[in-house]
Amino acid sequence: MDSREAGFPKYMVYCGLLSALTSLSIGYVIGAPNVPETAIRGINGACGPYPYTIVNGFPNCFYFADLLWGFAVGSFCLGALAGGLAGGTIQNMIGRRKSMFYSNIIFIIGSLLLGFTYHQAQFIVGRIVIGLACGLGGVVAPTYLGEVSTIKGRGSMGTLYQLLIVVGILISNLIGLGLSTPPLWRVLLSLNAIPAMIQMFLLPTLVESPRWLVSKNRIPEARKALQKLRGEFNIDHEFEDIVQLILGRHTAGPTSTTRVTTAVGDSAFEESTLKVDPEVADTVVTTTEVTSGSSAPQGYSILRLFKSECRSLAVIGILMHFFQQASGINGLIYYSTSFLGDVFGAGNSKYITVGQSICNFLATIASVLLVDRTGRRTLLLISLGGLTFSCILLVIGAYVDVGILVVVAVFLYTAFFAIGLGPIPWLLLSELLPTYALSPASAVATAVNWGTNFVVGLVFPSLNAGLGNATFVLFGAFCALGFVYTLIFVPETRARSIEDIMAEKGVAPRTDYL
Ligand code: GLC
Repeated sequence: MDSREAGFPKYMVYCGLLSALTSLSIGYVIGAPNVPETAIRGINGACGPYPYTIVNGFPNCFYFADLLWGFAVGSFCLGALAGGLAGGTIQNMIGRRKSMFYSNIIFIIGSLLLGFTYHQAQFIVGRIVIGLACGLGGVVAPTYLGEVSTIKGRGSMGTLYQLLIVVGILISNLIGLGLSTPPLWRVLLSLNAIPAMIQMFLLPTLVESPRWLVSKNRIPEARKALQKLRGEFNIDHEFEDIVQLILGRHTAGPTSTTRVTTAVGDSAFEESTLKVDPEVADTVVTTTEVTSGSSAPQGYSILRLFKSECRSLAVIGILMHFFQQASGINGLIYYSTSFLGDVFGAGNSKYITVGQSICNFLATIASVLLVDRTGRRTLLLISLGGLTFSCILLVIGAYVDVGILVVVAVFLYTAFFAIGLGPIPWLLLSELLPTYALSPASAVATAVNWGTNFVVGLVFPSLNAGLGNATFVLFGAFCALGFVYTLIFVPETRARSIEDIMAEKGVAPRTDYL
């Protein structure tokens, strides 16, 4: 049977699951400092009076002022920004497997730096280092997942990656319940190395991506790898398609056009029938590197993108990444335990944090089920409208001091985020833009996403200290703005061709790239 008809061959699922361990690590990095914040900072007498007790040369707690704590937590986004931008070049130079190996090494180094922190500066360096791993892994793992998956399996494999980020956040919160006292928070932070170690030791059991091997002209190896991934299926046609798409020529045998799926950024997968080098869509840097010896077309650079016919659509996609982060979601994901501690006391608020992560998980599953039935635009509007409403409810609940109202508002807020604004921006970008413009657009979107994430992480503790209950007025305002922007500018993309969407915006895609 033709491998293009294959669903989920066992070995492919194994490779996909193993590579998706990266997203578990990323989720853990995102969620880990939340529950033990009080213990790490020695707040509420967690470490007794300052100066803090030193055990075997390691202080039990560290003094972090609000802004410095914001910087420490958010600083992993700076590492991720750098890792993400370099990730495309690295994975194309040394391959997907070696890149995953290095991201694992960095995850392990970062976890150890954090676990064995003896100074605030080391904590910050540890967060930046582990952020580098998130950025690199966040580019490589979804690329690999997309490249090894069968055509039919790609959607599910892609959403698996997204789901595991949320699972990683939840696991870090659950473990935090047991390890959030000094000095046990050190164990909690070190445990981040476990998924990376598992992935690293099992990496030799994974095949290299056949698409990458083809791009390096290692044709027999690529064929062997694809055959292993597809088990008993006949790979003749699929392999021909890959070679033709990447090298612009045939090995031998039949020709045909195939559906190409390309990993974009850290979570989404694009399906397209365009005959374009899939490597071109990975990141902007691939356009100059991968096509040697081939006649495959070149993609746009970032500068060219913003001068091109695709500008207005790219701006829509990039702004949705801004709104995703400006909604303030990571304010809660990073700090809910201390933020809600004002209302409930730190002892209770950590359970609300776990409840919030469960909401996040369940609503992400709902989103996976809904996204292909309901339109993207519809889900975004529901999400942004619901987020605005939840922010208002949160502020009112905090002002009138009704705890249950605050909890309901936090859960609603998280669910409304996870159903639309969380997963859709990546998907949207790949549906708004033709493949030749996608890679620079996702590079900019990744930068905007991590950059805004950093700013929210940085200012949230200070905002909370200064504005108190009114903090979410600001985020609510961004959500309301996002709602109005979506209503006016964001087109529906579900089940529509890019040509159709571009025509609605009064522009036409370049045909010489197709
Ligand atoms: C999305 C966001 C990320 C956030 C997460 C929460 O993946 O990109 O910043 O932490 O959702 O679930």
